[in-house]
Amino acid sequence: MKLITAIIKPFRLDDVRNALGEVGVNGMTVTEVKGFGRQRGHTELYRGAEYVVDFLPKSKIEIAVSDELAERAVEAIVSAARTGKVGDGKIFVSSIEQTIRIRTGDMGDSAL
Ligand SMILES: Nc1ncnc2c1ncn2[C@@H]1O[C@H](COP(=O)(O)OP(=O)(O)OP(=O)(O)O)[C@@H](O)[C@H]1O
Ligand SMILES: [Mg+2]
Repeated sequence: MKLITAIIKPFRLDDVRNALGEVGVNGMTVTEVKGFGRQRGHTELYRGAEYVVDFLPKSKIEIAVSDELAERAVEAIVSAARTGKVGDGKIFVSSIEQTIRIRTGDMGDSAL
């Protein structure tokens, strides 16, 4: 199992969620976060105006998927989140040791 953490532009969130639904992702967690990348927030535009602070609003998506689904999920995020401008975001992929569905006690892929 993989944990895919994607930091994206908030206005791309609906499209990313729909794209992930199409590849068969069963659940996700979304958090509104602030961050900066290489431009340190300065030269990046947000809602048409240059933002005056270092941190820019971003949406963080966390999805746990089977190893089999991980590549397709990453591709779906990239194509739905990309605008081609700076600040499009980043995707981090890490390994999950175990998943447990609390209601049933299911473990591993069947708990996803
Ligand atoms: N190395 C990092 N570690 C943790 N979070 C990061 C890192 N780089 C970027 N982020 C997060 O991703 C968001 C978007 O980053 P961003 O797309 O601006 O990266 P970048 O490397 O500057 O690429 P670009 O040149 O395309 O803007 C940041 O606001 C921050 O929340
Ligand atoms: Mg940047």
